[in-house]
Amino acid sequence: MRLSKDPPKRALHETLSGRRQPVPPIWLMRQAGRYLPEYRKLREKFPSFVEFCLHPEAACEATLQPIARFDFDAAIIFSDILTVPLALGCAVGFGKDSGPAVTLPEGTPLSYAQDILSPVYEGIRLARAGLAPEKSLLGFCGLPWTLLLYMYNLPGEKDFASARRRIAMNRAEAERHIDLLTDACIAHAKAQAAAGADVIQLFESWGGHAPLYLRRRFCVEPAMRVVAALRESAPDVRTVWFAKGFGEAVGEYASQILPHGLSVDAATPLDAVVRRTDGMALQGNLDPYLLFAPEERLQEEARACLRATQGIPYVFNLGHGVLPQTETGKVQKLIETVREGACPG
Ligand code: CP3
Repeated sequence: MRLSKDPPKRALHETLSGRRQPVPPIWLMRQAGRYLPEYRKLREKFPSFVEFCLHPEAACEATLQPIARFDFDAAIIFSDILTVPLALGCAVGFGKDSGPAVTLPEGTPLSYAQDILSPVYEGIRLARAGLAPEKSLLGFCGLPWTLLLYMYNLPGEKDFASARRRIAMNRAEAERHIDLLTDACIAHAKAQAAAGADVIQLFESWGGHAPLYLRRRFCVEPAMRVVAALRESAPDVRTVWFAKGFGEAVGEYASQILPHGLSVDAATPLDAVVRRTDGMALQGNLDPYLLFAPEERLQEEARACLRATQGIPYVFNLGHGVLPQTETGKVQKLIETVREGACPG
């Protein structure tokens, strides 16, 4: 019998502590989002996406929706990585089909005002209170490189071309901003941990846009600083580094950054990473488009992820976020496949 004072065992937290679970925990990036009818209904109440993100009760509701429907092993706080640029004084807008638009403040230097993000922390407290004790609650943060691309990009530019030109033209400015973003990311991640997030996922969604000569200074070192700061200030919290676009080199970077878990994108073979990460927990990397494939194909590929990670601590997830057109029935099938088809040991 568990004494009431014992902390609850959480499958995600246990896995990220290096203890492989007989059935791997499962959650999905963007599990709270437009593929859910109940999300779309809630979304209608807010003309602006930023207002929605900064409304604690609504954010809590969106966070818990996928847990109520699918019983995932973990919830991720409903928010966005662009809340950090917002707190740095940028204007952040989300057009209907044009994606996010971030504008740097004119004439004033960036300065981080975390107060603006208090509703996120309140949302975390509410979500934690509404979540069963054995479920983890993830907080998250975009990493500096990915955020800088959004902050420097001009409206309508594809592949962040204007942002990448600006970095090349003024490298000193970009380094200053990367350092500022790193500090902001640390502060935001710590505040989420203090509010009750037991896992923090760090998103480097556009790592693949970082050329080799910038990767160490713009991606690896900032991530190292964030992970080290969290390990020191919140030793019970586990970190996951999601890096997209680094290919097989991701294992080498992860062994320098030392997150508790590495979330692998769909383009990188899991078994290649397994060989390079020496016991680190892995997460991922099912292609989100497989949720549009016939069921047998989806199941086959999900089982391939389980096989590739046999014997190591593993968290089932996609290689990127759930797409808005995904059918909820397919998500249900995926969860059943993972829970039934787990390879013990
Ligand atoms: O994962 C979750 O369920 C939690 C919520 C979450 C959102 N964004 C909600 C959201 C998380 C973890 C994010 C992270 C995020 N935001 C990333 C990193 C993850 C990734 O996908 O690579 C990035 C790059 C962003 C930036 C962002 N926010 C984009 C590019 C867009 C527009 C494109 C899109 O997917 O709609 C957003 C808006 C956004 N963030 C939506 C949601 C549910 C859709 C907005 C809406 O409902 O109107």
